[in-house]
Amino acid sequence: MLNHGGDLDIIEKNYKIAKENIIDFSGNINPLGISNKLEKTIKDNLSVITTYPDKDYISLKEAISKYCNCDKNHIIVGNGATEIISLFIKNLSPRNAIIISPSYSEYERELKNNNCNINFFNLEEDDDFLLNIDKLINCINDKIDLIVLCNPNNPTGTAINNEQIKLILNKCKFLMIDETYAEFSSISENICATSLVNDYDNLFVIRGTSKFFGVPGIRLGYGICKNKTILDKINKHKDPWSVNSIANLIGITMFNDNEYIEKTKNLIFNQKLYIFEELSKIKNLKFYKTNSNFILCKILNNKTTSTKLFENLIKENILIRDAKNFPFLNDSFFRFCILSEKNNKLLIEKLKNILL
Ligand SMILES: Cc1ncc(COP(=O)(O)O)c(C=O)c1O
Repeated sequence: MLNHGGDLDIIEKNYKIAKENIIDFSGNINPLGISNKLEKTIKDNLSVITTYPDKDYISLKEAISKYCNCDKNHIIVGNGATEIISLFIKNLSPRNAIIISPSYSEYERELKNNNCNINFFNLEEDDDFLLNIDKLINCINDKIDLIVLCNPNNPTGTAINNEQIKLILNKCKFLMIDETYAEFSSISENICATSLVNDYDNLFVIRGTSKFFGVPGIRLGYGICKNKTILDKINKHKDPWSVNSIANLIGITMFNDNEYIEKTKNLIFNQKLYIFEELSKIKNLKFYKTNSNFILCKILNNKTTSTKLFENLIKENILIRDAKNFPFLNDSFFRFCILSEKNNKLLIEKLKNILL
């Protein structure tokens, strides 16, 4: 069973398909690859690997601060969003937490590793997995040290806005928001809590670069928080240089690459419209309106299951995410991400062949 999308090495081994030939709709990664500008910067500056990166990551934090419009002193950088999730949870060491679920599996793993009692707040299928804020707020009591929210949420693609986030912040001790997919939401939806950091001492926002900037291999993520107690604690326990020189260089370049950022947003926006239109023609399929670059779907008849669909597609080198192992989902759910126009067309055609 795959616990994450994008596990191409396992697929290569199990299905004997060379990694390069897999069309990966499971990893939620920007299909544009890296920009020419970034490629040139890396080539021209390869020698950075002969020196340690700046231990304080001053230029990188300045680039992030400009990109997110936040105070550079509120930023912590790390080895992917994964290290930031881990550092925050370890150093907060909550005794009781609520995970808004189904969601990304690492929160549960990390909380369990830190002996935290976990309560799952279930996003209801009947509500199209939209978060019922009033119901959540009623579940928050003095014992709950942490609320974990992925926004937009993986795998449902649903999201809440800043007004709704404020309602949670006003009631809880700490809110951790994983915004790994925030940049994929269209501008009008305004999914981005970084602007709230200045006003709330109990907010920790996590961001990655793997998905939006298409660079999971460099392992660069960051956290934004105003709370000095938790920031000092993390900085005290954190290993130095966990972001290497290449990732440092790439980060500084990428966050300023407005052309790439715009190109990505346009591609995702336009392809999303096309995919929504085509999916609505498949009557045995329900899909959930997404604020991200992936789409959760439910098979509505019993002719096939998510696992059978996965097996059918992988024979054609197409990798989707069988979503049955997410809490509260089952084997009628699958997820796929938006790739190039050509590949999206191919997947839609295959889905129509199998499901219509
Ligand atoms: C919601 C979410 N957060 C974090 C990660 C991991 O991100 P990173 O590669 O930055 O560690 C993933 C990867 O799938 C994810 O889906």
